Amino acid sequence: MEKVKESGTMNNCEVETPKNITIKGIISLLMQSVDEKCDRSVISLGMGDPSAYSCFHTTPIAQHAVVDAFQSDKFNGYSPTVGLPQTRRAIADYLSRDLPYKLSSDDVFITSGCTQAIDVALTMLARPSANILLPRPCFPIYELCAAFRGLEVRRFDLLPDKGWEVDLDAIEVLADQNTVALVIINPGNPCGNVYSYQHLKEIADIAEKLKILVIADEVYGHLAFGKNPFVPMGVFGSTVPVLTLGSLSKRWIVPGWRLGWFVTTDPSGKFMKTKVVEHIKKYFDILGGPATFIQAAVPYILEQTDEVFFKKTINILKQASEICCDRIKEIPCITCPHKPQGSMAVMMKLNLPLLDDISDDIDFCFKLAKEESVIILPGTAVGLKDWLRITFAADPASLEEALVRVKSFYEIAAFEAEKAVYSDFKVHVFSSSSELLERLHEKWSLVKKQPYPAMYSSVYGGIILDPAIMVIPIDDHMVHRGHGVFDTSIIYDGYLYELDVHLDRFLRSASKAKISSPFPRSTLRSILIQMTAVSKCKKGTLRFWLSAGPGNFLLSPAGCPTSAFYAVVIDDFSQCKEGVKVITSTIPMKSPLFATTKNVNYLPNVLSVMEAEEKGAFASIWVDNEGYIAEGPNVNVAFITQDKELILPSFDKILSGCTALRLLQLAPKLVEQGQLKSVKIADLTVQEAKRAAEMMYVGSTLPLLPIVMWDEQSMGW
Ligand SMILES: Cc1ncc(COP(=O)(O)O)c(C=O)c1O
Repeated sequence: MEKVKESGTMNNCEVETPKNITIKGIISLLMQSVDEKCDRSVISLGMGDPSAYSCFHTTPIAQHAVVDAFQSDKFNGYSPTVGLPQTRRAIADYLSRDLPYKLSSDDVFITSGCTQAIDVALTMLARPSANILLPRPCFPIYELCAAFRGLEVRRFDLLPDKGWEVDLDAIEVLADQNTVALVIINPGNPCGNVYSYQHLKEIADIAEKLKILVIADEVYGHLAFGKNPFVPMGVFGSTVPVLTLGSLSKRWIVPGWRLGWFVTTDPSGKFMKTKVVEHIKKYFDILGGPATFIQAAVPYILEQTDEVFFKKTINILKQASEICCDRIKEIPCITCPHKPQGSMAVMMKLNLPLLDDISDDIDFCFKLAKEESVIILPGTAVGLKDWLRITFAADPASLEEALVRVKSFYEIAAFEAEKAVYSDFKVHVFSSSSELLERLHEKWSLVKKQPYPAMYSSVYGGIILDPAIMVIPIDDHMVHRGHGVFDTSIIYDGYLYELDVHLDRFLRSASKAKISSPFPRSTLRSILIQMTAVSKCKKGTLRFWLSAGPGNFLLSPAGCPTSAFYAVVIDDFSQCKEGVKVITSTIPMKSPLFATTKNVNYLPNVLSVMEAEEKGAFASIWVDNEGYIAEGPNVNVAFITQDKELILPSFDKILSGCTALRLLQLAPKLVEQGQLKSVKIADLTVQEAKRAAEMMYVGSTLPLLPIVMWDEQSMGW
């Protein structure tokens, strides 16, 4: 029987609203948290709307053009949906001034601001399973628009240390046959970058190679004041079709006039040949563009605006950006990795440990709004947590005042942080070792189940069962210089799995690290077996280390008379069996000597896994400098191709995994059974790897773990 609807509910009206943060949304929340009782005025460095400040004023030419168009009484009717012909012509001519070819009016579509041009671009490209490559950080409207249009978003990083250039390698890794376009914002919001001709060319070449369009958001076009002049992406339109998005909003300081454009900069007609253009025209039939009289004013505005007006804006922006960067230098918790060269915004990194009681960028911005009535956009809103986006399109006096307030906010928070240390905190001095032991035992007594049932230390010369004294001397060369090697074996059903293979690799690593064992191999083996037996652990992990040993704190181990051997049993072995998501690591890989030696310097590995976790992934994959798949942070990777070949990358530059070797020994059985065609070690490019039917991590603690997503791409579908 059909369920009777509750009265008042409507059929098919359940909708999911995308949860994306928008700039306007977060700024209005920040505004609400300003203390109303505070008599200081609110200064907003949050929005890219310079018209709020009196020093930024549009040109009288633009105002007169609009007034004339309005008063002519000729432009009160509808315009053609794609825009007035004279407006399209004027924008085509305006953009053609900087291009090596001429655009036609048909290339230009008039939109309600650049925002609507973004919507048109993404709507026209969206189709089931399509994806788009967006920069991180990015103007958030792109992601919101993609969410509404069901377009999958994949992120490539902009690199702060390289002037926020596009991570070109990431583009190649991210793109697949369903990628429709990549987006660049130049001059950049939120980073203030202005890309060189060379970098734009590299972007065009990659896009051409991958057969994807470039969407060039040039809403800040010409607002460049650094070493690179503004070069429109359309210059490379013959290499790759470009959708150029722009508006009057920023260059003419009239964001409220809502006059923008969507332009196909595609002289070789690659894009025009497709039916997309027909599609675009039709789509415009449902869009209401800007008011007809504003459109009618455009030809006069574009042709008559004086260079002096543009120069004035550029000069104020340059001066404002300099004030911003100089004042920020006086605020230790904020650093600017790259001085802006254009647009109206800059990204600054927050150093949170310097502040008391501030958990992240959002917390910082809300407290700043409340305490100092200054509005700054948290980096999270543009995709970078614990960064800030500062809009410097403000009059110099307000900017100075806002940054003085940020400094004072910092000083109070930093003072509180120091006060917390100095006033409430007194370092305890233990009067005796028994007092210390008592304290440690007290701590361990609170733990339900002791996780480390046994440890061996050659320094003690025996097995320890008391977790309170499972320690390594601080003057051990492994502790203060990282001069140590290690290995891990699994305890399964009371057996040590592949112990000999691990022990052999352990001693090979020790020899490369120039550490001689204090005992022969047979003694090490016996210690590990006896200690595991004493621990009574049946399912867990056995970890062991060889170190240059205790001695002194110098760099050379010459002062460490005896090397040391340590081992511990960890009573925990939980296997993850669900397929996981991985990312390509941007942390530099270790060089072959250090990657093939299993030494304790795992900082790159730690950063790599942290990067993955920050991006919601389980772990990462390194790709070597020749573009071949390398390894994960503590696992190997294996692939099964569409032809049922099992392939593992070669071990020349990576750690030869004991589990990976075991897999290579066992897998030929699957060949005999007809489940695999062959098993081999080979170099695999990212493109080849991404076409694999299956992908997995291989490592002692797994031992096999399916990978179902890689850099936002589903694997093996
Ligand atoms: C990168 C970027 N694209 C598009 C827009 C929207 O432009 P408009 O105000 O013309 O809609 C903005 C506005 O700040 C922007 O920063």
